[in-house]
Amino acid sequence: MKTKTDLVIPFEWKDRHPILLEKFFYIPKGFDHQEDRLEWNDERIFGNSNPVCIELCSGNGQWIGEKAKQRPDLNWVAIDLDFGRARKIWLKIFREKISNLYVVCGDGSVFLRYYAPLKGAKESFVNFPDPWPKQRHAKHRLIQKPFLDLLSTVLVDGALASFATDDVSYRDQMIRELARSAQWQPVFYDPYYLSDFESYGDSYFANLWKQKKRTLYYIQYVNGSRRI
Ligand SMILES: C[S@@+](CC[C@H](N)C(=O)[O-])C[C@H]1O[C@@H](n2cnc3c(N)ncnc32)[C@H](O)[C@@H]1O
Repeated sequence: MKTKTDLVIPFEWKDRHPILLEKFFYIPKGFDHQEDRLEWNDERIFGNSNPVCIELCSGNGQWIGEKAKQRPDLNWVAIDLDFGRARKIWLKIFREKISNLYVVCGDGSVFLRYYAPLKGAKESFVNFPDPWPKQRHAKHRLIQKPFLDLLSTVLVDGALASFATDDVSYRDQMIRELARSAQWQPVFYDPYYLSDFESYGDSYFANLWKQKKRTLYYIQYVNGSRRI
C-alpha cells in the first residue's frame, strides 16, 4: 500500500521542471512554462479515450473521488495548487482503487494555458474556490475572465462548466465575469444560480458550510452556443 513517502518530487528546486509520474502530473511554481500539452489517452495517464471531466481547486478530492467511483465510464482529473492536498488525492487513487482518476499538482490557470489538451474535456467543475472575502483581496479570485477564456479552450463546444460557492460576492462576480464573454451561455434562468442542487455531490467544504447552515450557490454555463 502506498504512503506519503512514496510521492516525493525527485529533484532539487533549482532543477525543477514539469514531471509526469504515475497518477500525478507535477507543475512547478516559478518555472518558465512552454506549451507542452498532455494527451489524455496517453498510456501514462488514462490509456483510453473515455470522455474527460476536470475539477479545478479539488482540495482533498472528496467530491471528485465520489464522482469518479459513480461514473467509471468517464475519466476524471483533479487539479490543486497545494502539494499536500494533491498528494492526498494521489493516495486516495491507490487506496480506493480509483483507476479513472488522475491528479495534477499546480496552478489551474497554468495547467489550462500550457498543459491541458485543447478541446479535450467534456465538463468542468470548480467547487468552493478560495473566496478572498476582503474586497481588497478580491483581485486574487480565480474565476475571472482570463481564467474563463482559458477554460473555454480546453472544453469541447457544448461542455458544461459548473461552479459552487458559499460567498455571495464571489457568486455575483462569477456571474458578471461569465457574462463578459459571448462564449458562455447560462443554464439557469435569471438570477443564474441555484441554491439547492441535490445531485451535485458534496465536497469537504460543501459539508462544512452545510453543517454551519450556510447557503450554497451553484452556477452552470455552457461553453459555446449549444449544449451536448
Ligand atoms: C476552499 S478550498 C476548496 C477545496 C474543495 N474544492 C472543497 O470544496 O472542499 C480551495 C482549494 O483551491 C486550491 N487552489 C487555490 N488556488 C488555486 C489555483 N490557482 N489552482 C489550483 N488550485 C487552487 C487550494 O489549494 C484549495 O485546496
